[in-house]
Amino acid sequence: MKSNQKIFLFEDSTFQTLSDALLKAQIGNAFNDLIILVDENTALHCYPLLEKQLPQPLQNRIIVVPHGESAKTMAVVSDVTQKLLRFGSTRNTLLINLGGGVVSDLGGFVASVFKRGIPYINVPTSLLAMVDASVGGKTGINFHHYKNLIGTFCFPELVYVNTRFLSTLPQNHWRSGMGELFKYALISPEITIEDLRQLRSETDSELLPLITKSLAIKQKLVEIDPLDKNERHLLNVGHTIGHAFESACAESGIRMTHGEAVAAGILAECYMSSIMSGFPAHRMDQVIHLFVEQFAPFYEQLPDPMAMNPFLTHDKKNQGREIMAILFDEHEKPILNRPIPPTLVPEAINFLYQTIHGARQNT
Ligand SMILES: NC(=O)c1ccc[n+]([C@@H]2O[C@H](COP(=O)([O-])OP(=O)(O)OC[C@H]3O[C@@H](n4cnc5c(N)ncnc54)[C@H](O)[C@@H]3O)[C@@H](O)[C@H]2O)c1
Repeated sequence: MKSNQKIFLFEDSTFQTLSDALLKAQIGNAFNDLIILVDENTALHCYPLLEKQLPQPLQNRIIVVPHGESAKTMAVVSDVTQKLLRFGSTRNTLLINLGGGVVSDLGGFVASVFKRGIPYINVPTSLLAMVDASVGGKTGINFHHYKNLIGTFCFPELVYVNTRFLSTLPQNHWRSGMGELFKYALISPEITIEDLRQLRSETDSELLPLITKSLAIKQKLVEIDPLDKNERHLLNVGHTIGHAFESACAESGIRMTHGEAVAAGILAECYMSSIMSGFPAHRMDQVIHLFVEQFAPFYEQLPDPMAMNPFLTHDKKNQGREIMAILFDEHEKPILNRPIPPTLVPEAINFLYQTIHGARQNT
């Protein structure tokens, strides 16, 4: 499978139309029908911006799903499928996923299986989707509290990024995007932790360059390893503990965004790197600083650490019974899929919780 996705990036001042992007990507005339998938929030805040840009001859129709992770379920897949059927969708229907990572994961999944596959494009509206989820062709839904357990690889025809959508994004979801940016600062010299410490809002002129760099880093890894068998695993930095933390929060009814959970996972996994593979102390200090400034004060509730165990043992990255994570060596080079001794996991989680408690006491 080859990644054939095209990415177009725009910032507020050069708000160009989606029709232009469709034409440039040479897919503007290939469809006789388009359907837009939105969630309740992007229907309200983002659809009005996009509506003005849709190609005139196409009759547009909208499917609205609930917002947040609760939309990544079989029940919602069934609902979207029914609506596609009701709209008479064919393989010449283009599905436009207008939303955050939930909409692109869900919409991409439905598009990949409906009538054995219809084309889709992603128009990301959250920071997380702009820097990560909208590219790479991973689609999927959750199963009970297991994240992304059911999914496919299927690339969007086009990813259309416009930072103007971010003006209505809630703060906790801004932090969520920052969590995924944190990952890029560890895996590539193109983005530094200092860059992220400076970044404050969607109006920051440094934002678009950071999005551009993130997407280039991800795109490169996806091209080398589209089916996530080896090099692409690098994008899983922080995700072993992060996913378990996120799932334990979901199970305990604690509000937690994906990227906030990833940031927690990054701190815990860097701690493991410092114990197991000589991750340098000065680098660990930078990681702690960014975490304490931008994430730690905002975790309102934490799950019981024991609640993470079942999710750690079922992580997709595991081999046999071993829990695997991406660690870093003494030269800050990543070590892909390093088995983690079972005793180190609670120690790393303890370090994470102490760091959060310490930061809360100082604010
Ligand atoms: N496929 C991938 O490669 C990949 C990578 C990373 C994450 N993900 C997935 O992405 C999901 C998280 O994505 P997310 O953080 O974008 O979550 P999300 O899609 O739930 O969006 C976050 C919240 O912000 C709202 N929102 C989005 N854009 C908005 C806007 N412009 N204005 C106002 N509200 C807006 C949404 O309605 C939602 O309530 C997770 O399910 C995760 O598993 C997928």
